[in-house]
Amino acid sequence: MLDKIIDGKSISSGIKSEIKSETEILKSGKGIVPGLAFILAGENPASVVYVRNKGKACEELGFYSVTERLPENASEESIIGLIKDFNQNSRIHGILVQLPLPGHINEQKIIETIDYTKDVDGFHPVNAGRMMTGEKCFIPCTPYGIVELLKRSNVKTEGKNVVVIGRSNIVGKPVANLLMRKEFNSTVTVCHSKTVNIKQHISGADIVIAAIGKAGFVKRDFIKEGSVIIDVGINRTENPGSKSGYKLTGDVDFEDCYEKCRLITPVPGGVGPMTIAMLMKNTLDSAKGVIYG
Ligand code: GUN
Repeated sequence: MLDKIIDGKSISSGIKSEIKSETEILKSGKGIVPGLAFILAGENPASVVYVRNKGKACEELGFYSVTERLPENASEESIIGLIKDFNQNSRIHGILVQLPLPGHINEQKIIETIDYTKDVDGFHPVNAGRMMTGEKCFIPCTPYGIVELLKRSNVKTEGKNVVVIGRSNIVGKPVANLLMRKEFNSTVTVCHSKTVNIKQHISGADIVIAAIGKAGFVKRDFIKEGSVIIDVGINRTENPGSKSGYKLTGDVDFEDCYEKCRLITPVPGGVGPMTIAMLMKNTLDSAKGVIYG
């Protein structure tokens, strides 16, 4: 039953070992250690886990990393102050402010405070704009992870109908833009909560990218026979029998879609680990100076 699974865990391990070797070369050749700074405000349980896992990846790959944890009621000024310090710090090549931020903080203002040459999330308007025009830039980590999964699973994107479900700034919009670029040449449709007859759009897709945050939303009768299904959803659903009391479920009903599709990513172990691997790749590229020199 496993032959249709795109194994994000194994693909991301391969990428991380490439990064680890490059990091050693950068260290011994130029004395540069890639450095990544994390800012986490509040106690959102998912965010706490994500930042912890990103920190672990830094350790594993030989990166320098610092994590600044702030309380839920932290002021906007305190976050801006930390970012300005990291902007000036030559040991830091990447700055990641974990989203979502507490409600009283203006997220866009925070993102725009980050030096765009250290914006390894690719969320700064300079990077977002450059991605749209096809120039060199930091590519947001989840979209970057998705295209790497497709590439490394030999899925062709040129001329293919891709349906993206969800229009978030973190996944939906950037992945749609990325797949329109000349490297990928896809025909992209973006569906969202106000789309009329969403099933009809999805049924024409060669590749479906589900990023709406609704557990099990995509069913067998939505998809085309032989399509490739990329599930970006990470939904916590109740699971009273387990230690944590919850389990992670994607936006796709995996069991329902498995027989009909050609390839599918599992949750967990699909897109999730790729996001972290591509964050490391962006940070390494920043340290090497290959994006902005
Ligand atoms: N929250 C969910 N995904 C992401 C991400 O890729 N980067 C940041 N900074 N926050 C997130």
